[in-house]
Amino acid sequence: MKNKIVAGNWKMNNTFSEAEDLLLAIAEGIDGMILETEIIICPPFLYLEMAADIAEESNFYVGAQNVSTEEKGAYTGEISASMLKTSGVDFCIIGHSERRTLFGETNTDLRKKIDVSLANDIIPVFCVGEHLADRETEKHFEVVKNQLEESLFHLDTNQFEQIIIAYEPVWAIGTGITATPQQAQEMHAFIRSVIEQKYGTEHAYNTYILYGGSCNAQNALDLFMCKDVDGGLIGGASLNVNDFIEIINAAETSTKNN
Ligand code: PGA
Repeated sequence: MKNKIVAGNWKMNNTFSEAEDLLLAIAEGIDGMILETEIIICPPFLYLEMAADIAEESNFYVGAQNVSTEEKGAYTGEISASMLKTSGVDFCIIGHSERRTLFGETNTDLRKKIDVSLANDIIPVFCVGEHLADRETEKHFEVVKNQLEESLFHLDTNQFEQIIIAYEPVWAIGTGITATPQQAQEMHAFIRSVIEQKYGTEHAYNTYILYGGSCNAQNALDLFMCKDVDGGLIGGASLNVNDFIEIINAAETSTKNN
């Protein structure tokens, strides 16, 4: 039985006190639950330390939403992987489509972010996904394969074991349009087959592949019941404690019923 991972990507939301309230509410909500599911909360940089303090008494891990390609030095405004690690961060989202599209991050930049994270003992949650135009022209498999190959496939097997993948079709992010379970399953199975060709069957099976893109309390269970969907990367719905906990419950139910 493979358990699930549910990660919340808060993006650039919440003031300090709102962030504190939400973290405490999540901690309270999962308090006493015996969970198979691993929970990762990814707030903005400023709240990571607070999140890590609350996580110490709770049942979730803390992730960042981004990391610098560089180790340290004259990079004004950047945050390094060692800064994250020493602030209590264990995971980092890398290659979110908003970073790729709005901030021009390339597969090569992302490869550096993967390396610097692994070197600092931070587990990357590496995002892949196609734009609508790619899907409409049937290039979606090719796009996702390239993203995997160019940013991850230089890793050796031991390094690759540390990677979590999130499939997030760009047309589904923040739009309220979710991939159907069939679309999600098809792409997840494809991603697993690409990993299998490179790293073998066992590593392909063991790799966590999360779905993200308008995943919410209503549709999470159907998505999580798909054979190759190992959990979710949740944006908007992770900002509401009740919705987020329902999604965690959906992950639990799907683990028990798979
Ligand atoms: P969404 O975002 O759930 O709000 O669509 C998902 C994400 O961008 O990680």
